[in-house]
Amino acid sequence: MDVIIGRDDAEVGAYAAAKVAKVAHAVQQAGKNLVLGVATGSSPLATYAALAEWVRAGKLDLSQASVFALDEYVGLPEGHPESYREVIRRTVAEPLGIRPDRVHVPDGFAADLQRAARDYEQEIKDAGGVDVQLLGIGSNGHIGFNEPTSSLSSRTRIKTLTPQTRRDNARFFESPEQVPQHCLTQGLGTIMDARHCVLLAAGAAKADAVKAVVEGPISAMCPGSVLQLHPKATVILDAAAASKLELAAYYQDMYANLPAWQRLDVLS
Ligand code: GLP
Repeated sequence: MDVIIGRDDAEVGAYAAAKVAKVAHAVQQAGKNLVLGVATGSSPLATYAALAEWVRAGKLDLSQASVFALDEYVGLPEGHPESYREVIRRTVAEPLGIRPDRVHVPDGFAADLQRAARDYEQEIKDAGGVDVQLLGIGSNGHIGFNEPTSSLSSRTRIKTLTPQTRRDNARFFESPEQVPQHCLTQGLGTIMDARHCVLLAAGAAKADAVKAVVEGPISAMCPGSVLQLHPKATVILDAAAASKLELAAYYQDMYANLPAWQRLDVLS
């Protein structure tokens, strides 16, 4: 696991966008189209903003890329502004110029949710798998909506949100009661199939979860800790989110001394 500690949220976004651009370049060089895994929430917004700027400036072409979201609420009416389908459209697809038919979100509105979950796994497979997956982290250690005690090898399925997650996400709704109780989420096994995973966190409220993901035991009680088993996982943090890491100085020293080809340079 590589740990990169930036100064602030904007620097976290710049590093993460550079990682996506690096993978996109390698995929395009191989004659393929990028399959980007995207997360909702506040954590990846600076990354999307940096990517959008490079797309606008003509430094990065994502017009042939497709995106796959991690999760979707169950129980919201279609078109609800906080449904992840809408959030991904607003924050990712439009600013990055991704064609609408290449935007994939689990169908939380389906009458048959189990089938929708199976279909989503198939859609990811049909696209050739995810090249690089962006992830945020819940304050309880969840990734996607894989709440504590999720199977470390789970696939896309229906989950029940914990009261903690519903409280955390209440800021997007008019009242806490409006936060749905259920969701469809890629499983931890699904996420682990991505060829690169990039977890982003900023702010002191994430410091405990980050510590558990990076330096804690691998445990279903902290679902994000499964990333310790991923061969190409990068964790990008701001100083506050990294503040509880025992080996923070080591990670900083390691990144500062990386050979140039391993660094994540912002596109100039
Ligand atoms: C939600 C999403 C996760 C996200 C998490 C953290 O629960 N399902 O994918 O990582 O929130 O959100 P934020 O980045 O806003 O802290």
